[in-house]
Amino acid sequence: MTQPVNVTVTGAAGQIGYALLFRIASGQLLGPDTPVKLRLLEIPQGVKAAEGTAMELEDCAFGLLEGIDIFDDPTAGFAGANVALLVGARPRGAGMERGDLLEANGGIFGPQGKALNAGAADDIRVLVVGNPANTNALIAQANAPDIPAERFTAMTRLDHNRALSQLAGKSGAAVSEIRNLTIWGNHSATQYPDIFHATIGGRPAAEVVDDQAWLVDTFIPTVAKRGAAIIEARGASSAASAANAAIDHVHDWVNGTPEGSWTSAAIPSDGSYGVPEGLISSFPVTSTGGAWQIVQGLDVNEFSRARIDASVAELAEERDAVKGLGLI
Ligand code: NAI
Repeated sequence: MTQPVNVTVTGAAGQIGYALLFRIASGQLLGPDTPVKLRLLEIPQGVKAAEGTAMELEDCAFGLLEGIDIFDDPTAGFAGANVALLVGARPRGAGMERGDLLEANGGIFGPQGKALNAGAADDIRVLVVGNPANTNALIAQANAPDIPAERFTAMTRLDHNRALSQLAGKSGAAVSEIRNLTIWGNHSATQYPDIFHATIGGRPAAEVVDDQAWLVDTFIPTVAKRGAAIIEARGASSAASAANAAIDHVHDWVNGTPEGSWTSAAIPSDGSYGVPEGLISSFPVTSTGGAWQIVQGLDVNEFSRARIDASVAELAEERDAVKGLGLI
């Protein structure tokens, strides 16, 4: 009998949590042969709603779900965790400056990093979804010195998937015909969705599209501002698509990316492509199962360079701000 994998989900009673937990329990996160134990971490006010979600999870009678525990204490919630999905975060309130937002999230991700360091399993893998995701991941990582730095990642897979879909729409191709798109930089409006190495049905995407104005005026802003467009239309922020992206990220990290294709994830930079070492920035990545590798040797044209640099500069500013606040 395979040992169950402990998956801790923070913000379990939130909208993304509700869209995520059932998919984890059904086997979509780790695969159809891996039993899971869910550990739901909430703040005290969220515990009752998490209990309700746990009741519904029970009522699905998932064959792979071997247990559900609910916590309001990070140390207990992360004890023995093999996978941690850090979804709960402090949203930007009215009149809140960036420094206030970073500080409020430091109050969440600092203690969570310490709790992971204290009690997570040796193979712990962390995906930060809660915004500002890249810098929250940096804060958690800095507070977990005993965990290998590369186990801390942040989610840009939703941006990647959004870009795939926009490119499919423009070219008339199926999403499955598109390979090697890249999201670079920060999960924010400065992110850069790059089609210059992508192919559609084996042909260079830029050649298939052949429309620079669309790239600049439609594609890049549509991908970068999609979150706001969803809020405008739905009256609530992306939840099911965010949960779907979290599933994709961890699934590919653990099980590997398909041969001949890469995806995007925010991972600690090793200095590749001029991104300062240590920044948790989105890159083109592959996995052979268990570890992300940055795709090396891509030519970065001038158009891309300026956009990557702008997003990376924003990440460096966020890092300096949290350093200034003593959070890392
Ligand atoms: P939500 O407000 O519906 O749920 C958040 C949940 O987190 C709440 O139940 C809250 O009680 C809980 N929470 C807050 N602080 C916590 C803590 N310290 N420990 C444990 N739980 C805590 O929010 P939603 O829609 O589920 O979004 C969650 C986060 O994901 C937000 O920060 C959002 O901006 C971010 N997000 C990121 C995306 C990405 O692509 N990286 C895409 C969409 C959302």
